[in-house]
Amino acid sequence: MISIIGSGRVGASIAFLCVSNALDDVLLINRTKSKAIGESLDIANAIPSTSKFSIHGTDDYSQLTGSDIIVITASDKVYSKNRTENMMSQVIMIKEIAKKIKQYCPSAIILLVSNPLDILTYFFQKETGFPRFKVIGVASSLDSSRFRYFISEKFSVPQASVTNALVLGEHGDSMVPIFSGVYVNGNSLLSLIDNRDPITNDVRNYWKTLRNYKSRSQLGIAKNTYDVINTIINAKELLIPASVVLEGEYGENNVAMGVPVKINQNGISEIQKIELDGVESALLKESSNIISNYINYIKINSK
Ligand SMILES: NC(=O)c1ccc[n+]([C@@H]2O[C@H](COP(=O)([O-])OP(=O)(O)OC[C@H]3O[C@@H](n4cnc5c(N)ncnc54)[C@H](OP(=O)(O)O)[C@@H]3O)[C@@H](O)[C@H]2O)c1
Repeated sequence: MISIIGSGRVGASIAFLCVSNALDDVLLINRTKSKAIGESLDIANAIPSTSKFSIHGTDDYSQLTGSDIIVITASDKVYSKNRTENMMSQVIMIKEIAKKIKQYCPSAIILLVSNPLDILTYFFQKETGFPRFKVIGVASSLDSSRFRYFISEKFSVPQASVTNALVLGEHGDSMVPIFSGVYVNGNSLLSLIDNRDPITNDVRNYWKTLRNYKSRSQLGIAKNTYDVINTIINAKELLIPASVVLEGEYGENNVAMGVPVKINQNGISEIQKIELDGVESALLKESSNIISNYINYIKINSK
């Protein structure tokens, strides 16, 4: 069973993909029960006639029991300037959700989607004590899709012509597009541009640009999250950047941020070490320092 906590725009979109592709049974849990029931009634009509799976909505966390995967898309408030602006209330929320998941479903694989992503991934893992490779923050793969999109637009080529577009670090203002590994139709991206800043700024500000036209993003993250769920449920392998608590990898400890990971049916099987150039290494260090500072601020101010 796939349980999704938070039946808002993102949670409902993920549920729709899981149900319409007949992945598994889906349970929606939402603070306001009627929304979980309403979304499940709507999405139930997308169950293929050949599917043996169902969808239900509730506000009762005890129904989490037996979930294989729990996706967290709950959000207390909407941010407007920065993903960290509601971080104190989001951390309080995630700790409460963590306690309930630990009580009802201690063996599930957890996919964090709510923001601020890296901070919530860190506090969820610390609160539950779950193995760090079973607590996965899904966001850097979305940022990587955005990086690939801008490169393909700049060179007027299909996205399939762009390989290895990867974004690491914070899912936030300090995220780090990794230019040095990208190829466009077989040519190194760095040989085709003389300044990384315009694309970096475009990728970092994608969500703001999108909000000029639509209230908030939902479908891109839904597909990126669905890919991870599909990998776990169907015992596939996926190599993507995702947030995980680090224990020495990339020289970092006691912080969660986006790094390249291999995912299989058990969660993360391995953190991959990739080559970065000097600019990228320095920016990644800066990004991890920024996340660490937020984590320390929250620890001090929530005592
Ligand atoms: N990782 C990424 O790349 C990425 C991309 C896009 C969005 N996001 C994040 O995803 C989250 C969801 O976004 P959204 O647009 O779906 O927001 P949304 O439409 O406001 O939905 C949030 C839902 O969470 C519910 N909720 C709040 N506290 C809860 C709790 N303790 N238990 C259960 N449900 C709870 C709310 O319930 P009520 O009905 O009671 O209000 C609401 O239905 C946000 O944090 C957003 O920033 C992440």
